[in-house]
Amino acid sequence: MSFYQDYNDKLAIEQWNTRARPEYKEIRVRPISPALGAEVGNIDLREDLSPVQIAEIRQAIEDNLVLVFRDQKIDAEAHKRFARHFGTLHRHLLAGSREFTERSEDPEILAWQTGRSSRYTAGEAWHNDVSCDANPIWASLLRVTRLPDSGGGDTAFANLHLAYEALSDPFKQFLDGLTAVHDGREGWTQGYGAQPAAGRAFPASEHPVVARHPYTGRKFLFVNSAFTTHIAQLTRAESDGILQFLHRHIEKHIAFQTRVRWLPDTLVFWDNWATQHRAVWDYYPFERWGERVSVYLGHGPEK
Ligand code: SIN
Repeated sequence: MSFYQDYNDKLAIEQWNTRARPEYKEIRVRPISPALGAEVGNIDLREDLSPVQIAEIRQAIEDNLVLVFRDQKIDAEAHKRFARHFGTLHRHLLAGSREFTERSEDPEILAWQTGRSSRYTAGEAWHNDVSCDANPIWASLLRVTRLPDSGGGDTAFANLHLAYEALSDPFKQFLDGLTAVHDGREGWTQGYGAQPAAGRAFPASEHPVVARHPYTGRKFLFVNSAFTTHIAQLTRAESDGILQFLHRHIEKHIAFQTRVRWLPDTLVFWDNWATQHRAVWDYYPFERWGERVSVYLGHGPEK
């Protein structure tokens, strides 16, 4: 008698939970859940950081995918200065646009103010940020500058290495080598009703469905429900079915996820390739404001 391969997620979780963990000399790293996420202590982001601190943060994000820095009384300039240690700052096409806010005109900061009159909040579907770019940003760093009076407004994150590794071997082989189209119109026009500036178009790009992380060599699923429109090598019906399965696979496995609770003066830094995230809008009609800086490396994840 044969059985469904429903144990694969446990094997993937076992491999992940028993991986070799790095040691840190200068920063303190305390995981917040087995799947992903760690709080980083013993660091003040207002100060100049040493090469060892920067290398250890890079190590910590490779290992934990999402880093939470508490009690960091930093402003927008310090936020950007910290992000620049890890790559070039990305300029979001909607930064400073009225789709989100009239508050920031800085093209390197995507700022939003969600409140009673908002029709949507940024990132309310599971997604990788701006995966429609030809070279999708590697990391994002977010501060929530106004917390809702009701509490709530967490950000949920999912580990896409685990999502890939939990699939059966024949299904992994089927996905390896496929490519999917990610389209800014899907995320921003369908999602928010946003239009590109006159004479410009939102980007659309094709990326591997299964990508390899250049830092760790580990594979991950790289499709998301906000931007991915179709898998290029399949019929429409096949593509719709497979994408629906993959989105649901990522969303329903709570064991692959964590939730970050925002406190005043928190900064969250995530690997935008190997994770998806989703803003939880459970605080209506209260206000929640965010400022996001993203880091671009001049290349995307590898095939
Ligand atoms: C986002 O960056 O997509 C928004 C996340 C959040 O506001 O929690």
